[in-house]
Amino acid sequence: MKILAFESSCDETAAAVVEDGRRVLSDAVASQADMHALYGGVVPEIASRKHVEAIAALTEKALQDAGVTRSEIDAVAVTYAPGLIGAVLVGLSFAKSVAYALGVPLIPVHHVRGHIAANYLAFPELQPPFLALCISGGNTLLVDVKDYTDMEILGTTRDDAAGECFDKAARVLGLPYPGGKPMDDLARQSQGGVYDLPRTHVADHPLDMSFSGLKTAVVNLAHNAQQKGEELDRAALAADFAAAVSAELVPRAMEAARQAGRKVLVAAGGVAANSRIRADLEEACRREGVQLYLPPMRWCGDNGAMIGAQGYYEYLAGHTAGMELNAYATRDISDQPGQ
Ligand code: KG4
Repeated sequence: MKILAFESSCDETAAAVVEDGRRVLSDAVASQADMHALYGGVVPEIASRKHVEAIAALTEKALQDAGVTRSEIDAVAVTYAPGLIGAVLVGLSFAKSVAYALGVPLIPVHHVRGHIAANYLAFPELQPPFLALCISGGNTLLVDVKDYTDMEILGTTRDDAAGECFDKAARVLGLPYPGGKPMDDLARQSQGGVYDLPRTHVADHPLDMSFSGLKTAVVNLAHNAQQKGEELDRAALAADFAAAVSAELVPRAMEAARQAGRKVLVAAGGVAANSRIRADLEEACRREGVQLYLPPMRWCGDNGAMIGAQGYYEYLAGHTAGMELNAYATRDISDQPGQ
C-alpha cells in the first residue's frame, strides 16, 4: 500500500511516499529554519505562508522521486495535530483536497505518533510494545506504546518542551535558531561541572518533568554575568545544561519503562539527536538490560515519511477521516479520530 504523506506542523514542509509503513520511496522536506532564524524563533504567520508556497511543488517532487503516478497512491496521510494551528491547517487542507481529487482515504496522524513511527523506518524488526521517550521542539512525553495505535501517556512536561528549552538557552548564549544542534556542538567542547543548574521533582507525579526553571536559570546566569562584566564559560554552561536536561529525561524514561514492564525503549523527536542524551540513554539501558532504539539523525527531525509510516498503521486500524476533519493545536496522543 502506497501512502502519500504530509507534514506541516511547524517550520518544515514535508511530503513523502511510503510503502506498507516501512519502505520510504521518497522523502521531500523544505525547511524554513533560515527564515525564522532572522527572528530568533518560529513566526507562526510566516510559517503558514511558507507552507502554502512550498507544498504543491514538494508534492510533485515526492511523487517524482518515488517514481509513482498519482493513480498509484492508495491513501493520503497528514498531520492533523498538534502544532501551530495555521501551519497544520495548510497541510491538512492540502491533503484533504488531494485525497478528494484522487478518491482515496484520508488518514489523520498525530504528529508525535509520527515521531515514534520514524523508528519503524530505521528498524524493520521494531514492533510494539515499547516505552517511547518523545522529545521535540513542542512536545516532551513518556508514552507506553502498547500497540501501533494504542498509546498511554505516563509522564509529560508541566511547562516548556525539552527542545523549546534548548532553543531558548541557545538564544541567551548568542547561538542561532534552532539552537539544539549548536548547543550540542558547543557542549562537546567542555567537560562541564562548572554551573549548578536546578533539577526538578514533581511531587504528585514523579514521572512528570519541568524545564522552565532550567531555562530561567540559564537566562539569569547570562544576565548576571553581563551586569558584572564577567565572561561566561559558554561551553561549560552548554555542557551543564545538556546534562541537566538529560537528568530530567533519562531516569524518568527508565522508571516509566520499569513501571510499564517494558524491556524496549525508543527515542523520538528532534531532541533525540542530542549527543549527551543519547550517551546517557545508552549507558542507562545497558545497565538495566533494556534494549534501546535511537533513531538515526535523518529521522529525528520533522519529515513526511514518519507520517506515512504511522498512517499505514492507523489505516490498518480503520482510523480514516472524512472531509470534516479539523486541525488541532493541542491534542492528546492517546486520542485518535476514527478510533
Ligand atoms: O522534532 P523536531 O524537528 O520538531 C518538532 O516536532 O518540534 O524538533 C525540533 C527541536 C528543536 O527545538 C531543536 O533545537 C531540537 O529539536 N534539536 C536538538 C538537537 N537537534 C535538534 N536539541 C538538542 N540537541 C540536538 N542535537
